[in-house]
Amino acid sequence: MNDLSPDLVPKFGFSQRLIEGARDQSRVKGLTHEFYRYPARFSPSFVRGAIEAFTRPGDWVVDPFAGGGTTLVEAMAMGRNALGIDISSLSSFLCEAKTQILSDQDVSTYERWTESIDETINMHATSDHHEAYADAGYYRNLDGPEFWRLRKAIEQAISSVERLHRQQAHVLARCVVLKTAQWALDSRKTRPSVKAFKAQMYKQARLMLEAALEFRDQIDGLNLAVPPRAISLHRTTTGAESETAVTDICPPKLIVTSPPYPGIHVLYHRWQVDGRKEAPAPFWIAGKLDGAGSSYYTLGDRKNPGLQSYFDNLKSTFTSVAAMAGDETTIVQMVAFSKPDWQLPKYLEVMEECGLEEHRLWDAQLDDEDGRLWRDVPNRRWHAQQKSHAPGAREVVLVHRKSGA
Ligand SMILES: C[S@@+](CC[C@H](N)C(=O)[O-])C[C@H]1O[C@@H](n2cnc3c(N)ncnc32)[C@H](O)[C@@H]1O
Repeated sequence: MNDLSPDLVPKFGFSQRLIEGARDQSRVKGLTHEFYRYPARFSPSFVRGAIEAFTRPGDWVVDPFAGGGTTLVEAMAMGRNALGIDISSLSSFLCEAKTQILSDQDVSTYERWTESIDETINMHATSDHHEAYADAGYYRNLDGPEFWRLRKAIEQAISSVERLHRQQAHVLARCVVLKTAQWALDSRKTRPSVKAFKAQMYKQARLMLEAALEFRDQIDGLNLAVPPRAISLHRTTTGAESETAVTDICPPKLIVTSPPYPGIHVLYHRWQVDGRKEAPAPFWIAGKLDGAGSSYYTLGDRKNPGLQSYFDNLKSTFTSVAAMAGDETTIVQMVAFSKPDWQLPKYLEVMEECGLEEHRLWDAQLDDEDGRLWRDVPNRRWHAQQKSHAPGAREVVLVHRKSGA
């Protein structure tokens, strides 16, 4: 462990930004962040703080557990380039939807689609049943008669989206359907009427266009000679360092991420309908395919003794993260633990085994006893499942560099 590394001292003044960002408890909002409620997404102000502290415009920022794409959006909005990697195909869909810069032609196509929502969703008309998805089980827990109206409305909305041949308009419109369906189905006990679904979809369509245009204006306003770009890879981070898209941009200045947390159950890949029944519908609506069970998305089975599979997977992914880093790369993570007493030391041990050395920048500015930046977790679903004041209800920011860098 290296307190106040000489390398990082010149940036010490900037670290105040990271502290402010991490402590900011405001809701996730602005730009395209609200296109989807991705489970356990981190706050844009935290990422913004890290980006400001450790990078300049034109630099590359990597998020090896990109999730809902918060890092990619913030990086581009600040004129940095971003690469996101995630094992979930839903994540790559969201990263694309949130970071595309709409052309005027796509805006016109999309607006025409928006105006057709009223006639698209019509219970007296037919809908295309998506046989392949239904046969593969993607309608699970939405196949009962009580869901037929919403199912039909979603099928009709997807069919209308699939008729859009301009790629960006298609992706944005599909994301509107996804967001509206999440609103209608996920974590609620009652179902909205079709009329309410339609009104919500229209409202979302307008809000999301405004957000996408705000994102475009923000980037235009930077007046950069070369506009920033985002790349999203759908794959495991293990081994990703040898992909051309990754070698082309490595080493980045900053790797900022929030990996799945040890021992904390988060359903990244399911909605909870009718109480707690798990539905794989988001993949069907996004036009993507699901992976292989919840431990596939959480780095391992939390019932595995000692979280062995979690820590093995943490090691293989962070070995690859370390291989992407150079001597000038700072690695910033936001993590929480169900049992911090043994999991935090074990976590740090794995980081060391991967060739990463912890830097505690904060001693002079923090009142946290261990010199790390801890924060209470606002409004997270997994947090609500923890007992109040349980240690898992707090997150910690960890800063690493390559050992000896
Ligand atoms: C806590 S979430 C990241 C949330 C993100 N920071 C945001 O703001 O939306 C963790 C992500 O890690 C992804 N993941 C799990 N195992 C992975 C692996 N082996 N390689 C890459 N991504 C993985 C999950 O699919 C999930 O999206």
